[in-house]
Amino acid sequence: MFRHPRSIDLILLSLFFLQFSPPATAIRKDVSLKLKHYCKTTVQGRYNLTDDNGYVCDAFSIDPRSRCCPRRGDQFSCQGCNIGSQCCNSYEFCVSCCLNPEMTRIELALKVKIAKPVTAGIYGSIFDYCAGRCRHNSESVVHENAYLSEFHHCFSIQSNSSESSSAQLESTLAGINVIVGRQGESCDSACKSNGQSCVPNKLAVLNQCEVIKKYMSCKGACLSSVGADQPAEVVDDAPVHLSDRERED
Ligand SMILES: *[C@@H]1O[C@H](CO)[C@@H](O)[C@H](O)[C@H]1NC(C)=O
Ligand SMILES: *[C@@H]1O[C@H](CO)[C@@H](O)[C@H](O)[C@H]1NC(C)=O
Repeated sequence: MFRHPRSIDLILLSLFFLQFSPPATAIRKDVSLKLKHYCKTTVQGRYNLTDDNGYVCDAFSIDPRSRCCPRRGDQFSCQGCNIGSQCCNSYEFCVSCCLNPEMTRIELALKVKIAKPVTAGIYGSIFDYCAGRCRHNSESVVHENAYLSEFHHCFSIQSNSSESSSAQLESTLAGINVIVGRQGESCDSACKSNGQSCVPNKLAVLNQCEVIKKYMSCKGACLSSVGADQPAEVVDDAPVHLSDRERED
């Protein structure tokens, strides 16, 4: 008798092929008709990922064939982003927000160098721009305070008009006396105790790093944040490690 264990393997293997090859060709026709677009996605983060249509989803809901997120929720969502500074507290929503043609002008984005050196290449697509830009940004100074550093996903195209804008700021604030209140003190109370009155519509003008740095110590860095109490400075005794859950309050 001739029985070699290897021949069994071969038989099993050919059975395997017989079983699986015919259905595969039947499916293929169908797929090539339906799928025009395979999505590019960000590398899976802690919770979510973003596809190049501008949708955010988790790894379980992504279409296994197309790699696209379901078209649920907002396209180009800016959840957790500060529109003014174009910085977000999550990488995924930074990419999604950045992909919005109204946020990022494609023709400018595709001229941006990937890195500083003159020889550095440029981004090949708006998705590559957003995925790269949100990950590293020279404006996002790494700071010892976790509360601030969570807003470090920024996608803005650097503007080179800072000098003219600082002159503009000065003129907007002409005649305004800037008073720094105590922690938790309202604008009304801080101004009243100095015999003046609060001008609420100028608070937004004050809420810019350039201005804030003039009046407050800003020991680490000045970064954008969101919330009702703006402008604001993080107090010295703020906890350094705030988890996501605590921050959502
Ligand atoms: C993940 O994405 C969903 C939307 O698809 C969003 O509601 C949720 O807040 C995101 N989770 C995190 C932790 O960003
Ligand atoms: C920066 O300035 C240069 C020349 O002054 C101009 O060509 C370029 O478009 C400007 N960049 C932005 C983002 O405005």
